[in-house]
Amino acid sequence: MNNNAGRLIVALDLADPLRAKSLAEELSPLGIGFKVGLELYMAGGPALVAELASCYRLFLDLKFHDIPNTAAAAVREAASLGIWMLNLHASGGKAMLLAAREAVESLRHKPLLIAVTMLTSIGDHDLAEIGLSGSTTENVILMARLAAQCGFDGVVCSPLEVAAVKAAVSESFITVTPGIRTGGAEKFDQQRVAAPADVIASGGDYLVVGRPITGAADPFLAAGRIIADMEVAR
Ligand code: C5P
Repeated sequence: MNNNAGRLIVALDLADPLRAKSLAEELSPLGIGFKVGLELYMAGGPALVAELASCYRLFLDLKFHDIPNTAAAAVREAASLGIWMLNLHASGGKAMLLAAREAVESLRHKPLLIAVTMLTSIGDHDLAEIGLSGSTTENVILMARLAAQCGFDGVVCSPLEVAAVKAAVSESFITVTPGIRTGGAEKFDQQRVAAPADVIASGGDYLVVGRPITGAADPFLAAGRIIADMEVAR
């Protein structure tokens, strides 16, 4: 994709569906995509997802993680809402990832299938606590390779792992990166962060940004600044 605005996905992390819809409407002239995550999904349900998906490129970020049969059924239901992209945790394992792939195979409208590698809120020091050895980067690469073998279109990873994922899998394997922060912006609960220009310079495809835009006094201006920051890398 040559158009940097098209790489931006704004996380509509709001509990009020009306506010989410008006924010999407306000930002849509920029030509960006949107993401519905757990909070807005719990507030607005599938009907809101279908409504937003009929107007915009919509990433449904519910991070499915279940037994293969249940995950595949959820993927089928999600796809029927007309979404552009959805995700499952790679740590759900090969059988779950293959079942998800098979679930979308026969559909007329196939959403992009993206595997979550390691949450961007996790740092190296958190891994031992959850029983993982190796660094976050090593674990991300392992999961990216597994997702690619299972026919996934790409992964969610941190900006810091984009180049390693592309090198380990392929240039065309999509990376979706949350953890985007400019200058001295507040990290909140994110640990593995980088600036928009750095993600573009390392070959990243889609940048997910939530609070730096949804919490800004002028979200349109904030989104425009992030797109302008991507241009710096060109
Ligand atoms: O507000 P912020 O820019 O940190 O938002 C990042 C968004 O990306 C949130 O909606 C979060 O749920 C999502 N996300 C993430 N890390 C992942 C996958 C999704 O931060 N690995």
